[in-house]
Amino acid sequence: MAGRALLTPQSYRHLTSYISLLIAVSMSTPRKETTFTIDTSSIKFGPGITGDAGYELDRLGVKRAMLVTDPRMANSEAVGIAIESLRGVGVDFAVFDQTSIEPTDVSFREAIKFAIDGKFDGFLPVGGGSCIDTAKAANLYSTYPADFLEYVNAPIGNGTPVPGPLRPLVAVPTTSGTGSETTGVAIFDFEEMGSKTGIAHRALRPDVGLVDPDNTRTLPKMVAACSGFDVLCHGIESYTALPFSQREKPESPASRPAYQGANPISDVWALAALEMVGKSILRAVLDANDSEARSNMAMAATFAGVGFGNAGVHLPHGMSYPVSGMVRNFRPDGYPEGKAIVPHGMAVILNAPAVFRYTAPSNPERHMRAAKLLGADTIGAGPEDAGDLIAERLIFILREIGVPNGLAAVGYSIDDVPSLVEGTLPQHRVTKLAPRPTDADELTALFTDSMQLW
Ligand SMILES: [Fe+2]
Repeated sequence: MAGRALLTPQSYRHLTSYISLLIAVSMSTPRKETTFTIDTSSIKFGPGITGDAGYELDRLGVKRAMLVTDPRMANSEAVGIAIESLRGVGVDFAVFDQTSIEPTDVSFREAIKFAIDGKFDGFLPVGGGSCIDTAKAANLYSTYPADFLEYVNAPIGNGTPVPGPLRPLVAVPTTSGTGSETTGVAIFDFEEMGSKTGIAHRALRPDVGLVDPDNTRTLPKMVAACSGFDVLCHGIESYTALPFSQREKPESPASRPAYQGANPISDVWALAALEMVGKSILRAVLDANDSEARSNMAMAATFAGVGFGNAGVHLPHGMSYPVSGMVRNFRPDGYPEGKAIVPHGMAVILNAPAVFRYTAPSNPERHMRAAKLLGADTIGAGPEDAGDLIAERLIFILREIGVPNGLAAVGYSIDDVPSLVEGTLPQHRVTKLAPRPTDADELTALFTDSMQLW
């Protein structure tokens, strides 16, 4: 070795060009995310907690609140208790009771106009996710007025981040599903597109969620079922979503999305929610008098909300938006007469068996664990069985409850598949979190497989 130069001019040139190449590659390869965040509303849970609405708004400095509800809830006990509590602390209020179930941009705009005209400094939605989401939009656009599409998710809207803090919002959910009391997301049907989209930003998250199991006692069977399916899918989708560390790192903290991918903390909430759903969903739906099961579903909805509100959801939700948005004549039992709807939870669950069969190979252990928590017998099963196990368990639950057998049973045919695919492709906020890359061909196969489930 003696006398041999360590770095000849030629090898030096090679080394410098190699370093330049490395730098070029590292600059052109997007950096992966290294951070996840967990945000949630303050939650108060318990029978009768609706009566704390006035106290919470007063504590947050609200002098005049907009109580947001829907025509059917307007005379409910929950709204009555909320109004009493406002009177009890001297908070002025006005009631907006025209929330549309499965709200649209048109119904959002009505609420926004009511909010601007009413000069409110706080919001109190009492109702299902539709009421809570409507109140979030009313709060946003009355606080920072803008064209309607300004804050709506890109690429459908401009996706402009919410400019600053919003006014206090105390949410009282009366279904056990959306978990909207914990999330910074407001979903609506964009009528001209025939699909759902939404506004997602942490500033939309309610300050307080008052989760009162008493409010879910009188839910009709199919409403309890559909909200339960929503919880169930929030749990599985957030647990099986693309891990946060496989997303691209955002250019600034402000552009980190609300839905960040599965992470160790959202996993805890998703798994706890799935365990509760597995033990309670059939009891809660099939026996309205099983107050323990209905209470567990109310708690599971909130648990799942904390998980998916940070991790996000993926294909069953992304595919559900055109299924709800393109509805023709389907009218399920227990929902207001007059309006054709495929309820959100039903639109989600009908796609779920096909999706989880497809996504299971991305992470069989997670799919298997979710199936087991929902009651599947996984003894002796291997990773290759994970997709069938979870799909078959979901189908078992659907059949026990008596849900329409696939998309064909809610009015769709194979001819609709291209439009359903077209309505799903722009749902980047959620489809990008699928644990397998999914484009038009895969979506076509998934919708086709979802036409009939058994
Ligand atoms: Fe949902």
